[in-house]
Amino acid sequence: MTDPPATSKGLEHVVLGDSAITLVAGETGGLTYRGFDIDELVPSATYEGVVSLLLDGSAPAVDPPSELSAELVRRRQLDDRTTRLADAVPLGLPPLEAMRSLLSLLGGPAWDYPPTRAQGLELVAKTPALLARYVRCSAGKPPVADRPDLGHAANYLSLLTGEAPTPERARALEQYLVLLADHGMNASTFALRIVVSTQSDLISAAVAALGALKGPAHGGAPARVSDMLDGVGTPDNAERWVAAALARKERLYGFGHRAYKTDDPRAVQLKRIARTIADPSRFALAEAVEHAGVAALQKRRPEARLFMNVEFYGAVVLEAVGLPRELFTPTFAVARTAGWAAHALEQASDNRLIRPDVRYTGPAPGRKWPTKAR
Ligand code: ACO
Repeated sequence: MTDPPATSKGLEHVVLGDSAITLVAGETGGLTYRGFDIDELVPSATYEGVVSLLLDGSAPAVDPPSELSAELVRRRQLDDRTTRLADAVPLGLPPLEAMRSLLSLLGGPAWDYPPTRAQGLELVAKTPALLARYVRCSAGKPPVADRPDLGHAANYLSLLTGEAPTPERARALEQYLVLLADHGMNASTFALRIVVSTQSDLISAAVAALGALKGPAHGGAPARVSDMLDGVGTPDNAERWVAAALARKERLYGFGHRAYKTDDPRAVQLKRIARTIADPSRFALAEAVEHAGVAALQKRRPEARLFMNVEFYGAVVLEAVGLPRELFTPTFAVARTAGWAAHALEQASDNRLIRPDVRYTGPAPGRKWPTKAR
């Protein structure tokens, strides 16, 4: 008799294959995009520069890259057909639900397999444009015209609010987009690569990825972080609140990560950004919850090595930028379109169907179906 095959619940430690896009150093808390440490990128890289790095495989000669930026601006424009389709999505849906429908409307023969760089740029450019238009219409406000003079992050805020954002807010959002642009074989990227591996189209893959991103174990956590901060209320209540939540066996949102066994490096950067742009009392509250959360999790489960993750200060930054909570996860998706596009191209460049196995634990074969009742 042969040994039963080894399994790994949650595919932990399973290596799917090779990737040259992003290195996640979970033990040491490092993150690099194509060899560029995020600590090197965050101070000066534009989101457009990072899109170029991820999709094209090399750093742009100058940042922002003029040709790619111009192409994104061109692709941000919504043509009549796209707006007609987008306007058919019922108003009033949660933005993430609407986003799933809006993305799927982009599909069609032009998106046939294999994915291309042009399709990737279309996904990056159109996603925030469609989302912002929907959010405005849903709120009974007129859509805002694209501002070709604004970069990707600033234009997204302008499309949502109708006003050019302050340079501080625009830059903080841009740094958030840079930090969340890619993250190795996370759940949404894995979902996307599975779909691409079947030779399906990039939009179908992006819709699958968005579905995976929605869950609170992945990109659905940041609004819950803000709710948690509201629940704590004041810094001196943090320890008590955290202890009570853990006693109720609840998870603390913004803590813990499959890959990182130390602080998530994105969280470290986002904390620094939050310190400069968030309301000081909100930042003090967040810092008290961070300290109380890490201390309590270390005490309860030291071997699990649970620290803050990207969602914790990500939520504080998005609040400070002025985004409402229902736009936190959609904005994460806006950032991640770059990584999704890069992974789709990489998957298609050396494709093999992703089709794992499962160990069967059901009844032994050979059961008899009931005879027909007379
Ligand atoms: N709060 C309380 N306990 C936790 C937390 C947390 N945030 N995270 C993990 N644990 C505990 C679990 O209860 C589990 O204990 P158990 O074995 O007694 O059940 C142990 O630590 C290991 O947890 P797993 O869920 O097995 O770890 P995994 O690597 O699968 O999960 C995850 C990672 C899903 C992120 C988890 O830490 C979590 O649920 N965090 C809270 C939600 C969150 O912040 N999500 C955003 C993740 S970041 C991102 O995807 C962008």
